[in-house]
Amino acid sequence: MEEKRYLTFALGKGRLAKKTLDLFEKIGITCEEIKDPDTRKLIFVNEELKLRFFLAKGPDVPTYVEYGAADIGVVGKDTILEEGRNIYEVLDLGFGKCKMCICGPESTRDLLKHHEQIRVATKYPRIAKDYFYNKKHQTVEIIKLNGSIELAPIVGLSEVICDIVETGTTLRENGLTVLEEVCPLSARVVVNQVSMKMENERITKLIRDLKTVI
Ligand code: PRP
Repeated sequence: MEEKRYLTFALGKGRLAKKTLDLFEKIGITCEEIKDPDTRKLIFVNEELKLRFFLAKGPDVPTYVEYGAADIGVVGKDTILEEGRNIYEVLDLGFGKCKMCICGPESTRDLLKHHEQIRVATKYPRIAKDYFYNKKHQTVEIIKLNGSIELAPIVGLSEVICDIVETGTTLRENGLTVLEEVCPLSARVVVNQVSMKMENERITKLIRDLKTVI
């Protein structure tokens, strides 16, 4: 019989990776080494199952998957939308649930309603553009930031923000509120388009198995 090739998984570093590995364990896919917090290794192999895993920065996961450097990726829907890569999104894992929202001080609600030319600070310029330009047909100025987005309306960089809201604590503690909801988010499985054809049997079995435990 032909020797199986390795299937390679790219996992977004952080919270999602831990939950993903817990889920994989439930369907018999284990990788002990990757759980060692002190390791500096970048790639981990399960010889028996012919699987390889690596951790990457979230926004890089769709890139690895589009180019086929990884067959399969696990990443947040926010990152999938923002990166806009040619990949298949095949499964909602149901964890990492949160929402992309337009937020700001209560006083900015009217500016939004009256389609004023406002500034929107965000880590997700593509999502913000799509929402304001294509869905709301509203002209806004988008200001790209890399983190702590809630600061922007507080210090006067922007009127509102387009950002992820999970518990709402960050907003509350900073006097901000959700003004509009853009879309729901959660962790998704993505697959390289060629791998989906060439390794269809192994990948569809994996998806089927995952569906039984989520
Ligand atoms: C995210 C997001 C919000 C916060 C929302 O930031 O950008 O700031 O979490 O969570 P909450 O509703 O439970 O308060 P993250 O912690 O990823 O860091 P960042 O500021 O660097 O984006």
